[in-house]
Amino acid sequence: MGLGDGHGLRLLDVGCGTGVSTEALLTSVGGAEVVAVDASAEMLAVARRKNWSPRVTFVHSRLETLAEAGVEGPFDGILASFLVSNLPDAEHGLRRLLSLLAPGAPLAVHDYAVSGRSRMRWTAANWTWMLPMASLRWGAADLARYRARRIATAGGPEQMVHRMERAGFDDVRVQTVGGVQQHLVHTFLGRRPDEPDVVGERQERRARGSAIAAAGWRPRRDEPVPAHRDTTGPVDEGGPEDPGYAETLPDQVLDGDDVELGEGDAAVAPVSPPGAPAHPTA
Ligand SMILES: C[S@@+](CC[C@H](N)C(=O)[O-])C[C@H]1O[C@@H](n2cnc3c(N)ncnc32)[C@H](O)[C@@H]1O
Repeated sequence: MGLGDGHGLRLLDVGCGTGVSTEALLTSVGGAEVVAVDASAEMLAVARRKNWSPRVTFVHSRLETLAEAGVEGPFDGILASFLVSNLPDAEHGLRRLLSLLAPGAPLAVHDYAVSGRSRMRWTAANWTWMLPMASLRWGAADLARYRARRIATAGGPEQMVHRMERAGFDDVRVQTVGGVQQHLVHTFLGRRPDEPDVVGERQERRARGSAIAAAGWRPRRDEPVPAHRDTTGPVDEGGPEDPGYAETLPDQVLDGDDVELGEGDAAVAPVSPPGAPAHPTA
């Protein structure tokens, strides 16, 4: 996410679940203050049992009701890891995330996005082992089937890039992970546009060590070309040499009951085989 070691920054991990994404975030931005939010009290209970730095705060809330739970922006960066595919209206959720960011601050969306051949792989993987495994481990076959179908029809990385752009993000780019989830799971990066009167704020942020404004959010040379500029081919052709953002995913648990499951609101932990890549580094 280009946030340096995170010192002096306030970050949000929304849909933190059992804290796996929070851990991944802290691996690279350990100096940041992190607000980790989830709609499920059960997931949060698992997260809270782990050892955390005092800079991490867990809050039980839906993204949609954060203000009521006392969580207000602006944040210097947001991670939404396997959240967006759970939202009833992804674009609406992305607009909400944008509104929580400081000008110039980044959002990282880490999630499934499948189309073409990767969609076929996704469907095949679901029918051969992911759905049976979800059913065996969590007994939630209907929910898992629903979510699998939803991801299969939500579009590929290009659609997600356009969704983020329509929601108002700048400099949107995408990179797939390595390993068995290559071309299934992607990290999408975008940032809230700077506001015209942001100069004073930028100076203040520089003064407290923010790497976001100081870096001007320019892609590094080793980062991929923004996906929307390449209309000639697949946007996520990482290739075997692609380092991805992968980390090993520990066992996940099924979401708790207190997420009200409405239309398109399934909330099942990502199902990955042992050693599969899953979470981004910040
Ligand atoms: C698949 S888990 C991902 C957990 C974690 N971020 C990770 O990467 O391991 C999705 C999480 O999103 C939460 N969730 C779903 N809808 C939500 C919403 N509207 N607001 C907040 N959290 C939500 C679920 O409770 C669940 O814990």
